[in-house]
Amino acid sequence: MTGRIAEMGPSAVTGRIVVTRRIPEAGMALLWAEPGVEVEVLEEAQDRGPHRDRLLEAVAAADVLLCLLTEVVDRELLSAGRGLRGVSQMAVGVDNVDVPAATELGIPVGHTPGLLTDTTADLAWALLMATARHIPQAHQYQVEGRYRIWGPELFTGADLSPGGSGRRKVLGIVGFGRIGQAVARRSVGFDMEVVAHDPRNRERVEEAPGVRWAGLDELLESSDFVSLHTPLTPETHHLIGERELRRMKPSAILVNTARGPVVDETALVRALEEGWIAGAGLDVYEEEPHMAAGLAHLPNVVLLPHIGSASGDTRGRMARMAAMNALAFLRGEAGPHTVNPQVYATLAYGRRQSDRRHG
Ligand code: GLV
Repeated sequence: MTGRIAEMGPSAVTGRIVVTRRIPEAGMALLWAEPGVEVEVLEEAQDRGPHRDRLLEAVAAADVLLCLLTEVVDRELLSAGRGLRGVSQMAVGVDNVDVPAATELGIPVGHTPGLLTDTTADLAWALLMATARHIPQAHQYQVEGRYRIWGPELFTGADLSPGGSGRRKVLGIVGFGRIGQAVARRSVGFDMEVVAHDPRNRERVEEAPGVRWAGLDELLESSDFVSLHTPLTPETHHLIGERELRRMKPSAILVNTARGPVVDETALVRALEEGWIAGAGLDVYEEEPHMAAGLAHLPNVVLLPHIGSASGDTRGRMARMAAMNALAFLRGEAGPHTVNPQVYATLAYGRRQSDRRHG
């Protein structure tokens, strides 16, 4: 390996990328195509992550860390990466990364925005429909051979479209970023009324065709379906708790494809048990992969294992973007998608680059 590195031109990229868990081939292939880059994959399996001690040890010898949202990239881990010149995460959300600490330490953090918008919006709709019409429960009933005779009240659910009622259903969207907007666009086919709430993007909501701005309480009180699309931040932690769930209609359905801690899951279980709301479709949980006690046994939930962006194409594109961010960090260049671009102007960042050149 050293011999090969010595033979390469001065602009060739060299260094060590630690990949916490194997990412799809499209991304791995980009990394492997660089002859001067050593790639260490800590965990090849899809169903477990590397032990924390292994991660701490590996990051100490890494130039770049390529990670997934399952890893806790906190100050301790970032500080252990003495030679670390970037963290590239294969996800759009980076709430598992202590970004302020990374910025202070001079480490850029890359992510994969834009690519998973449609795939995740599709899944939010799939959850909405599956919950409203009890699709998984009906499937189970069918495959278990329990369907003996058609019945007028078998698995009756809620309409998304006006149907014969003439009343348009109200879809409330909390968080009007890329995914929230894509969810709103899909409502046209169901002839829904759309209200949205996003204090950071009020103008965007007001300018969106067919979308009405609402305060959070008004949105919760008036919506038949509420879909969450806000990133997890200190402000959005438990944004939907007991108080908010009690404001929703008893016939309402809550969908969460954003981040688990946006909802107080214990309060949600009570809301579903006691009929404050009618149902919930969840792709994310407060303490993934665990669920709050009682949640899994409720009849009015549809529960998925965080698969919002899980189409083969999208995951491949995310893997490529994560690899491209990682290689840019290795070259000492700004990553194409950095969540803390202000880091590039810091002394701490400059110091890391020159330590590398002179070390
Ligand atoms: C998935 O949850 C992501 O943030 O990319």
